Amino acid sequence: MKTALITGGAVRIGAQIVKTLHENNYRVLVHYHQSKKSAQTLCNELNAIISNSAEMVCADLNIVSDIEKLSSKIESLDLLINNASVFYQTPLTNAKHDDWDNLINVNLKAPYFLATELSNKLKSRNGSIINIVDIHSERPLKNHSIYSISKAGLNMLTLSLAKELAPNVRVNGVSPGSIIWPQNKGSISDKQKENMLDRVALKRQGNPKDIAEAILFLVKSDYITGQIINIDGGRTLYQ
Ligand SMILES: NC(=O)c1ccc[n+]([C@@H]2O[C@H](COP(=O)([O-])OP(=O)(O)OC[C@H]3O[C@@H](n4cnc5c(N)ncnc54)[C@H](OP(=O)(O)O)[C@@H]3O)[C@@H](O)[C@H]2O)c1
Repeated sequence: MKTALITGGAVRIGAQIVKTLHENNYRVLVHYHQSKKSAQTLCNELNAIISNSAEMVCADLNIVSDIEKLSSKIESLDLLINNASVFYQTPLTNAKHDDWDNLINVNLKAPYFLATELSNKLKSRNGSIINIVDIHSERPLKNHSIYSISKAGLNMLTLSLAKELAPNVRVNGVSPGSIIWPQNKGSISDKQKENMLDRVALKRQGNPKDIAEAILFLVKSDYITGQIINIDGGRTLYQ
């Protein structure tokens, strides 16, 4: 089996990516930070299908030494999926230095250092990296300037790494539109949800499976590197 590391793989879109890769014969390293219980349940489920095919790995991607520890624990790697992310409003009037650190560290700096620290392992396996970006990496989401900046950086990181790590490692991205409503600090009102879906050509949210299938396509497409695919139901037509 090939091995894939999926950051933020315990819940939501990450968990679907884990399941889809596992169904396609990947051994999965399910990274989590706070969702330990969900990571454990998911790994148990997958190990019941194929023994020793799923392992949980913990790291706070806001902390450099955690990223280094996580990278050094991994012996062999074919696929890195940078999915973990922080999402919440930072209106200009009250954005703090800590918001910059948190959003940029998790959404941009961690994918950079995971990629560079794992690049030799990926090179030796002719592996690939897929970054989960956001359609707002190209046009900012109101009141989310730091998040949008972090994802714009991830967009450029995808292109830069594709050049830097060629020809041995392919690097691509998937940019979701509205797939699952945000939770906790990022949550939005019903009216906002309605307004958002009104500007989606297909008039509905996507499904985590849409993201996982796009990843699978990129993983299998041996002659694609440096590309970022929007999976947004036509939302960008209205941006
Ligand atoms: N949901 C959407 O509709 C949508 C739209 C556009 C783009 N996206 C992108 O698609 C990806 C997945 O979206 P999602 O909504 O499923 O993501 P999410 O629930 O907001 O976050 C995914 C995971 O990131 C992990 N994470 C956050 N801070 C962390 C930290 N300091 N250290 C380590 N891990 C940390 C969390 O893991 P733990 O739970 O284990 O702490 C969390 O479960 C993200 O990159 C997101 O930006 C999603």
